[in-house]
Amino acid sequence: MIQPEHQRRAYLEALGIDVWLPRGHAEPEPEFVDAGLAPAGMDWLALRDAVASCTRCPLHQSRTQTVFGVGSPDASWMIVGEAPGAEEDRRGEPFVGRAGKLLDEMLRAVGQQRDSVFIANILKCRPPNNRDPKSEESAECRGYLGRQIELVQPRIILAVGRIAAQLLLDTDTPVGRLRGSRHQLGDTPLVVTYHPAYLLRSPSQKRKAWDDLLLAARIVAEIPA
Ligand code: URA
Repeated sequence: MIQPEHQRRAYLEALGIDVWLPRGHAEPEPEFVDAGLAPAGMDWLALRDAVASCTRCPLHQSRTQTVFGVGSPDASWMIVGEAPGAEEDRRGEPFVGRAGKLLDEMLRAVGQQRDSVFIANILKCRPPNNRDPKSEESAECRGYLGRQIELVQPRIILAVGRIAAQLLLDTDTPVGRLRGSRHQLGDTPLVVTYHPAYLLRSPSQKRKAWDDLLLAARIVAEIPA
């Protein structure tokens, strides 16, 4: 699914990425001009409050609570998943179910701990029945993740799973083709890997996920401190 141009622009702007437009390009519809960009300039506290009280999309009606993200605000690694599941919605923390335990193990294998990285999702609220995020939902939520990335300034972003990878990179290329190489999100290197929930179902793919983590670790090691 490719995002409409106005959504892609707003997303990139929220992430602090310059957007160049061809001459004569029509301005986006007014209702999208500010959509998702409200968090610009917020500090952590204000951002947390904005997420906790967010009503920008209908998911606020069915959530138990928002799931802001956890970890270190100075993290070198930022992990971006899709959206909270049932357990995350109940506990208010990302990746706490079985997939989360596997993610923790994967991170430990490259010397990272849950509290040394920052873990967030594309969506801060659970979609009912764990369905995929709708494009309007991710468009409304994008500014929050964009501001989190600006505040953390990670040295590497690890996008786990199809939804995070495709939305962040604005592509519909399958994860199997996105993984295994370095991408960029503005100035920040980004590596794609399989979602731990998929790895639980397809353990034979863990070897590839391990290669992705090693690639991410190598990229971080090559960045001057
Ligand atoms: N899957 C995700 O992508 N994020 C979570 O927080 C939990 C499961």
